[in-house]
Amino acid sequence: MSEALIGALGREPGRASALCAGDEAGRADPYGDDLQLALYLCYELHYRGLDGVDDGWEWDPELLRLRGALEARFLDALRADAPVHAGPRAAQEALDALLVEPVHGKGLSFYLKDEGELWQLREYAALRSLYHLKEADPHAWVIPRLTGRAKAGLVAVEYDEFGAGRAERAHQRLYAELMEDLDLDPAYGHYLEAATAPLLATVNLMSVLGLHRALRGGLVGHFAALEITSSPGSRRIAQALERVGAGPAAVGFHAEHVEADAVHEQVVRREVVGGLLADEPGLGDDVAFGVDATVWLEDRFSDAVLSAWGRGASALREPPEAAPEAA
Ligand SMILES: [Fe+2]
Ligand SMILES: [Fe+2]
Repeated sequence: MSEALIGALGREPGRASALCAGDEAGRADPYGDDLQLALYLCYELHYRGLDGVDDGWEWDPELLRLRGALEARFLDALRADAPVHAGPRAAQEALDALLVEPVHGKGLSFYLKDEGELWQLREYAALRSLYHLKEADPHAWVIPRLTGRAKAGLVAVEYDEFGAGRAERAHQRLYAELMEDLDLDPAYGHYLEAATAPLLATVNLMSVLGLHRALRGGLVGHFAALEITSSPGSRRIAQALERVGAGPAAVGFHAEHVEADAVHEQVVRREVVGGLLADEPGLGDDVAFGVDATVWLEDRFSDAVLSAWGRGASALREPPEAAPEAA
């Protein structure tokens, strides 16, 4: 499917015949490389486009038909695998569960804090660049679908994410500087071909929730999960980067998130989630789904990276080019 899509994207839109039969998507591994890469490329047309690809593909009906089939497969799998919380207090309980921080946690950020080496931090940064170089973009799509407190709160947080009026403070920009500090290539999308399906799935989740109005509750839940878990996770990554002697921009990106996201968390819980559920109480399960799906995919990503490293292998298809020797 991804091969057929890449082939089609090299041509002009409007003349694609049968990019994919829906049953092919229906049989694909919902978390596998083929489906996740195809979906990622479909979505990228809505962000900054793809080099050498006609912008008209964004709304090509055949491509949208393919995208719909891939999304259905992905979402059906997530709805079967991810949910933990249900019932009238599902959203509240899902968010509360995020606040419980284990002292001796097992995830990726705990590993990096305790024993991560510079090459592992570079791999982690290269993988995460698929999101952070467009940080906060997927969440902007939900703005017209919200009203009142939810809208005001979400926009207040997004304003910070985009630099509060200062381009050089935009988190996307700060992340590019982090990558430069780590001798990585900060060009948008540079590491797409090196990324693996578990990482692509975490970004595809934001895109599918952002692009569908029907999934606005899920997007809000996802946004809340990111903001709530970001502050402690960022502290651990900042500690890891400091320990390996990374430069000030690399440490600074995460230090910024330790502080900013402690505030964002409060706004998101009270205003964005609270406001949405006051307006639309029927969306509680959707908010919980957004939280649970985020946690589930993040855990899968963490397991995949740690298992590659545990085998002494790179967590990428191709490890990032080696950093030049320090002078
Ligand atoms: Fe941020
Ligand atoms: Fe934030």
